Amino acid sequence: RTAQAVIVAIDGPSGTGKSSTSKAVAAQLGLSYLDTGAQYRAITWWMVNNGIDITDPGAIAAVAGKPDIISGTDPSAPTISVDGTDVAGPIRTQEVTSKVSAVSAVPEVRARITELQRSIAAAAENGIVVEGRDIGTTVLPDADLKVFLTASAEARAARRNGELKGKEAADLAATKAALIKRDAADSSRKTSPLAKADDAIEVDTSDLTLQQVIECVVTLIEEKRAAK
Ligand code: DC
Repeated sequence: RTAQAVIVAIDGPSGTGKSSTSKAVAAQLGLSYLDTGAQYRAITWWMVNNGIDITDPGAIAAVAGKPDIISGTDPSAPTISVDGTDVAGPIRTQEVTSKVSAVSAVPEVRARITELQRSIAAAAENGIVVEGRDIGTTVLPDADLKVFLTASAEARAARRNGELKGKEAADLAATKAALIKRDAADSSRKTSPLAKADDAIEVDTSDLTLQQVIECVVTLIEEKRAAK
């Protein structure tokens, strides 16, 4: 990597603006970008598509190494494919969203995906922004900067509903309930749960615009770069 390369970990629950922020920050600073949630969604999509019983952790573990997951790390056009098939659309369905916590809780799945994430980060010449749930705590504990984004459940549900835009006509209460359920599952699993690293900087985005969050993270990265 170049001397100015920075590794940035951005973690937090769903609906805090992680993806929008991470993509914009990476594009602005010329860094690569990795959406680790998309990788967990991709392996979940593959399990569903191949008829794996996702209530059976043993069945999931047995095939965790099978799908070939490839992430494109250009922040202006990130891609995700499984065995050569573009799955950017199918990984966002309600079905995958409702099953991804169960699949991503299986240790064999996490080991596999974590290894993939580390090799992608190591190959990023100019540095990378990696967003997820356990990046600062487990995947990249030596990241140059760790940010933990939070927001109130109301703000998160409102944002998620805005993203769904009538595509899957969701009402706010149902979105909020589903989001809280998924975060609870992600936070309580045994293997590398959603958690703030001790040395992460927490940013509450409830009352901030996306632009303000982006500016905040860009400033934090520039400070780290200046200190290098
Ligand atoms: O960010 P997202 O909503 O696309 O993530 C989908 C799921 O993937 C999330 O509910 C939990 C899992 N995940 C994970 O376990 N670890 C990560 N680093 C990222 C996502």
